[in-house]
Amino acid sequence: MNFFKKMLQIVLVTAVSVTVLTGCGSNQDSAKTIVRIGHNQSSDHPTHIALTAFGEYIEEQLGDQYDVEVYPSELLGSQTDMVQLTQTGAIDFCVASNAILETFNKNYEIFNLPYLFANAEAYHAVMDDTVITDQLFKTTSKAGFEAVTWLDAGTRNFYTVSKPIESPADLKGLKIRVQQSPTNVEMMRLLGGSATPMGFGDVYTALQSKIIDGAENNELALTNNGHGDVCKYYSYDMHQMVPDILIGNYAFLQNLPEDERAVFEEGFKIVNQVEREKWTEAVEAAKNKAETEQGVIFSYPDQEPFVEACRPLHESVLENNPDIQPIYDAIQEYNALYAEQEGR
Ligand code: GCU
Repeated sequence: MNFFKKMLQIVLVTAVSVTVLTGCGSNQDSAKTIVRIGHNQSSDHPTHIALTAFGEYIEEQLGDQYDVEVYPSELLGSQTDMVQLTQTGAIDFCVASNAILETFNKNYEIFNLPYLFANAEAYHAVMDDTVITDQLFKTTSKAGFEAVTWLDAGTRNFYTVSKPIESPADLKGLKIRVQQSPTNVEMMRLLGGSATPMGFGDVYTALQSKIIDGAENNELALTNNGHGDVCKYYSYDMHQMVPDILIGNYAFLQNLPEDERAVFEEGFKIVNQVEREKWTEAVEAAKNKAETEQGVIFSYPDQEPFVEACRPLHESVLENNPDIQPIYDAIQEYNALYAEQEGR
């Protein structure tokens, strides 16, 4: 992270904390409550567009009471920092990758499993099934937060500086950045690469300074985060579909009067809808830009050797955490349904 961004972050986080500690969360003149939302994407990313639409909706409906402020680009810190700020109520909401949430509630590891979903349709259907997601979303109140909706973050694939990853053997000896979750570290171990966990905001510099040889993410990381300026090989091994999750401070949500809560709930639906509408076109545009402007070469390796290498992870995670078996089984039902439809 560059110096100016770090300074701005310190100023913002200090200001937010002072406001909360002195109880001056509302704007004195209008007695409005300021709703602060942090995320780690750029301001042209579907996440930011969706949260801006949420802010507009809340202010349209409850504008005499709430001002919504959306902070992009890790201005309030890394995802882990922002989850902690949301837990304490220093901010009200943040978007965190499901991978990060695994360290706050182990059961979230389910959606970090590689090759969990048969296809994108099965993934979307599972994430839209609140009977499944509530088993995770509603379980972290003691930790001070609750998940309120999910956002699509596409498919995660490997990209590297020096060579295309055509099979797991190509990962041998390479340092690959992964998200900070035990499941991701174990996935890399099984695939034969060397896992280097770090926050998203540090990846560009790590690639540029050759601290790592590559990373894994959706296509937008190439363009919105500039990783495609350094990494010229992007291989569609499709190892994960890890959702992003919008979480809210539990006390803030609980203290909303019923009618206002209903407006916020509608707002959460808008976040999901807008982000998903924008997602598909954003991926297309990113791929196009990466190919034509950054010179990234896309390749499509046989996925089977990757699937095989990762298979033991399903077994070990379920064995160590039998609580998630019912969710795993429900996902298999969706997989069967959508694989069948795909084969038609
Ligand atoms: C994606 C995802 C982010 C996550 C990032 C990462 O961009 O949308 O929530 O932080 O990957 O790899 O850390």
